[in-house]
Amino acid sequence: MKRYISVIILSLFAVSALYSQSRKKDYSLQVDSVLSLMTLEEKIGQMNQYSNDRQNTGPVINNQDHLREIREGRVGSMLNVTSVTRANQYQDEAMKSRLRIPLLFGLDVIHGMKTIFPIPLGEAASFDLELMRKTAEIAAEEASAHGVHWTFAPNVDVSRDARWGRVMETSGEDTWYGKQVAKVRVEGFQGNGYENRNRILACAKHFAAYGAAVAGKDYAEVDISENTLHQVYLPPFKAALDAGVATFMHSFNEINGIPAAAHKYLQRDLLKDTWGFGGFVVSDWGSVGDLAKHGYAKDIKESALLSALAGCDMDMCSESYIKNLEQLIKEGLLDVALIDDAVRRILTKKFELGLFDDPYCFNRREHELDDKNINGKYRDIAREMGAKSIVLLKNEAALPIANSVKNIAVVGPLNKSQWDMLGNWSALGKPEYVITVLDGLKKALPKANISYHEGYNFRNNELLEMPDLKNYDLIIVAVGEKSMESGEAKSKVDININKNHQQLVKNLKENSDCPVVALVMGGRPLVFKDMEPYADAILITWWLGVEAGNSIADVLTGKYNPSGKLPVTYPQHSGQCPIYYNTKRTGRPWRPKAQWVTGYMDATVLPAYAFGYGLSYTQFEISEPTIDKNAYDMDSKISVKVTVKNTGKYKGCETVQLYLQDVAGSITRPVIELCGFRRVDLEPNETKEIEFILTSGDLGFFNAKNEFVTEPGDFKIFVGNSSDNLKSTQFELIKK
Ligand code: GLC
Repeated sequence: MKRYISVIILSLFAVSALYSQSRKKDYSLQVDSVLSLMTLEEKIGQMNQYSNDRQNTGPVINNQDHLREIREGRVGSMLNVTSVTRANQYQDEAMKSRLRIPLLFGLDVIHGMKTIFPIPLGEAASFDLELMRKTAEIAAEEASAHGVHWTFAPNVDVSRDARWGRVMETSGEDTWYGKQVAKVRVEGFQGNGYENRNRILACAKHFAAYGAAVAGKDYAEVDISENTLHQVYLPPFKAALDAGVATFMHSFNEINGIPAAAHKYLQRDLLKDTWGFGGFVVSDWGSVGDLAKHGYAKDIKESALLSALAGCDMDMCSESYIKNLEQLIKEGLLDVALIDDAVRRILTKKFELGLFDDPYCFNRREHELDDKNINGKYRDIAREMGAKSIVLLKNEAALPIANSVKNIAVVGPLNKSQWDMLGNWSALGKPEYVITVLDGLKKALPKANISYHEGYNFRNNELLEMPDLKNYDLIIVAVGEKSMESGEAKSKVDININKNHQQLVKNLKENSDCPVVALVMGGRPLVFKDMEPYADAILITWWLGVEAGNSIADVLTGKYNPSGKLPVTYPQHSGQCPIYYNTKRTGRPWRPKAQWVTGYMDATVLPAYAFGYGLSYTQFEISEPTIDKNAYDMDSKISVKVTVKNTGKYKGCETVQLYLQDVAGSITRPVIELCGFRRVDLEPNETKEIEFILTSGDLGFFNAKNEFVTEPGDFKIFVGNSSDNLKSTQFELIKK
């Protein structure tokens, strides 16, 4: 019997070998053939995922015998497998199972595998979509060379609350921009198919609205209106789906009383039925089993039932499915057709990857695994992305570093740390490959006399004695977060930079006669009002990855003129969180010195730095926007033209932003919302005209019934270099 089955499976390999095309190929014949051979337990095994016991990213389940369970066909996927050797060991066991169905290996390749790029929030500040696509491609190149088939990325959560630690993994607070980034990252990871074994499955996460956790507390409940869910949080997921994302991951949180793990409307009705998603949904770590903790299921068995009914196809690390689904089928509580649907979705991805042709096909590029080769090959891209991610917030005659500068003090352990430049979620990134700020500056300024001073104790942030600073021509101090201060389960109530860090900047300024440049590192918007007056220049340098030091040196020396723009609002007070630019107007919109308006009695509503803000070493002049008509109908293309001139002495890049306001809608609309941007490179004195084309679809929104509509009426169009520095015009949209 076993021989007979092997013959069938082997012939299937042959059949699928003929079809090993891109992921668009229809594998339903092969999938149904395999499905017809599977026992119920083997089907449920495909829906079960365990973590490699050597690298856990969640609460560990003890006493598991993964190898035995894989041999018994009870495991469909392993995550956190980070070496070909380990992948081969697991796959070898799968090849001993009755049907020899290959395992799928997943890993959080969030901003690079070995060549670590800036954290996603940093990359988002570049507003360079093509470069973001490229870094995702490189991440896929390297991950697939390590036997990884699937990354749990991109994180497409819209994040408006800087208290939430996972802001660092996202593209920030804006929904429209989040859609653009979701698209390029999915396309970067997945390419046009997997036949070259150098692109991997992507995963849109965390579905949904995880960034709206109450008070920025990770895993906390999300209590938002259906309209906010559709208008703000779901569109980037739809963009990922439209880009062909292979998988979704549901989120830990509940949405309005229903945990995402058991959210049938989200996973089955909307995602699979309305949006037509053909891939599969994986849970987050243990989230199926957590349903009992949510108080939504009475026990692990009911958790499995509710999550399977809701449309979750694979259970990550809770054992809920493998221990309960078979009994639920036998009790008639679950239809085997639902199991078959989930398994079809999972097997289809395995066929698309070519794993049935050759279960080890992603494990044959070991020759590329040499660290030097991988880390050497892509450093230039990492360096470019790092420089483009830097946001210049303030510069009062400090930068770029003048040739006359000879004695430079580099202050603060973050300027020397390799580990922290990798940021959280750094996969196989190795600190030893990171160029620190200190090293980058020494390499860029070989003739300068650069000396390092600790400034504060890295462990407890206590201030340390500083030498006489009078001889220095420039001081470069790094302040902010260590890399493990942002990420999962890293929420904060206070997003002020440590008071001693800020005091250090003040001390440096008051005890020296030279410019003080502050590098603000971190994975989220931070508050630094106290130090701000004492820093002559302030740059947001996130955590920039392996080339951090070179990227920062390129900007400080002017080799790269900073062009980054904030993808998140920087508040003046933690208490302003959540704060975001595209707020609703209210009936009493804020205005200076007015009473009876929205705001606070003890602080301003204004941010420290607005969404879209970022300076350059040169200056740009952006004209008033011009449109070709005063009124358009629903079929019109709306042309918005604007000229940009470089009026300064450095060549540079300006990101011209386009915002719109729907003056009056059937529900209230944001004060403004981003609907376009263009990065414009200009030589000194050069002028360029750029044109944005809008259609009525770009003016649409989800109405009170959550239908996407475009309503006639007045619209305002804004252009500028930041959400708080705009020029406007207006037009009327008329019903034909
Ligand atoms: C974690 C994270 C998720 C990640 C998964 C696997 O808990 O929430 O983003 O992909 O588990 O590591």
